[in-house]
Amino acid sequence: MEKYIINGGNKLYGSVEVQTAKNSVLPILAATVLTDDKVKIFNVPNITDAKNMVKILSGLGCRVAFEGNDLVVDGSFAEKDEIPRALAHELRSSVFLLGSIISRFRTAKIAYPGGCDIGLRPVDLHLTGLKRLGVNIKEENGYIICECDKLHGDEIMLDCPSVGATENIMLAAAKAEGTTLIKNAAREPEIEDLQRFLNCMGAKVRGAGTGTIIIEGVKALHGCDFQPIPDRIEAGTFLIAAAMCGGEIELRNACAENISSLLHKLRENGCKIRLNNDKIILENHRRLTSVKSVETQPYPGFPTDLQAQITALCCICRGQSIITENLFETRFKHVPELRKMGADITVINRNAFVRGVEKFTGATVVAHDLRGGAALVTAGLAAEGRSEVLDISHIDRGYGSFEYKLRSIGGDIVRVSV
Ligand code: EPZ
Repeated sequence: MEKYIINGGNKLYGSVEVQTAKNSVLPILAATVLTDDKVKIFNVPNITDAKNMVKILSGLGCRVAFEGNDLVVDGSFAEKDEIPRALAHELRSSVFLLGSIISRFRTAKIAYPGGCDIGLRPVDLHLTGLKRLGVNIKEENGYIICECDKLHGDEIMLDCPSVGATENIMLAAAKAEGTTLIKNAAREPEIEDLQRFLNCMGAKVRGAGTGTIIIEGVKALHGCDFQPIPDRIEAGTFLIAAAMCGGEIELRNACAENISSLLHKLRENGCKIRLNNDKIILENHRRLTSVKSVETQPYPGFPTDLQAQITALCCICRGQSIITENLFETRFKHVPELRKMGADITVINRNAFVRGVEKFTGATVVAHDLRGGAALVTAGLAAEGRSEVLDISHIDRGYGSFEYKLRSIGGDIVRVSV
């Protein structure tokens, strides 16, 4: 086990490079199983979820090797269609491999996926979509067992715009016979990135970013070299950290368009934000004013993955805020921890009612999930005094070199083993 020790109160100044997007790299890694050629993915972030996805691909028989920060996957050696419980349980995106594995082997056996404990996280929409493409599915002993003679295109209407279900269906449909239509598809930038990647491999996918995605099945896919998009959630986390601590930071390799909902809220709070090509500069030197409300929504609404971080920000603003978490049932586990730091928050069902206090006071807190853990780190950096954030393995799942980047802009944070 490891923890962070943070001495709060420093303003943040400097420039940080945004990592490649975790939630883009993960489905793209799943897509590498669809070809027998080599695929190179540039600048894969140094995060546990990516490492676990590499373990899963290796477990299927793929040859996987890092060349510096780039990852080369040779799917021609893939020979297994099963993902064991120990690995599948490590991360949510193991379930994305269902579409790829069934496309390659016509059979698949995957234990129920893991991932952040932020809600029920069903996979019914994934399975319903795959069934429409001709997959027979049974669930037993905690495994999802699939088989099909042939994958064929069909029209699929998603009950809700699930990111993972959209991606899983795209992967299964890429080489299906005929055309697949996904209606009420997720619109996240990572979905568009997966479309770009699949088309780079010779697929025929269009419409990503809108509510309807059309996939014309092709016979085979070839290898390619690909740079996924920047991580909009890491970028948003750093901007919120600077808003809370004060100072002036520049993000390099950032895409402002992909976090426009956050930028709008931060400007409403009173932050000065300048955009310059792939740079975002945020400046703040005073106590901010609360935004009245934040409601998480599917893209392009406010991202649920930044809810914990903006909740922490609202805790030390002037005024009151209501934060509504519409996507996940239990994504307020950071609230009791923020209370230990002096926050004044009441959670009723899906709403967190925040009354701003002058400042956080340092405390020992526990990370319960990836984004909640990151929010506690930003609170510790802004707090008066010393904080400890325990169980930071949750944070390592999605933030590469987190403490190094924060120290490079003035944060007083160290990682220690316990
Ligand atoms: C992806 O998770 C992301 N993970 C999550 O990021 C993100 O919070 C989420 O999308 C929403 O944006 C990855 O991309 C690896 P969903 P996913 O399916 O695909 C319901 C992070 O911090 N639903 O869009 O699991 C579900 O219960 C992680 O980086 C069903 O009902 O999310 C939820 O209410 C956390 N049935 C809603 O849809 C299903 O079959 C959105 O979930 C699938 C989902």
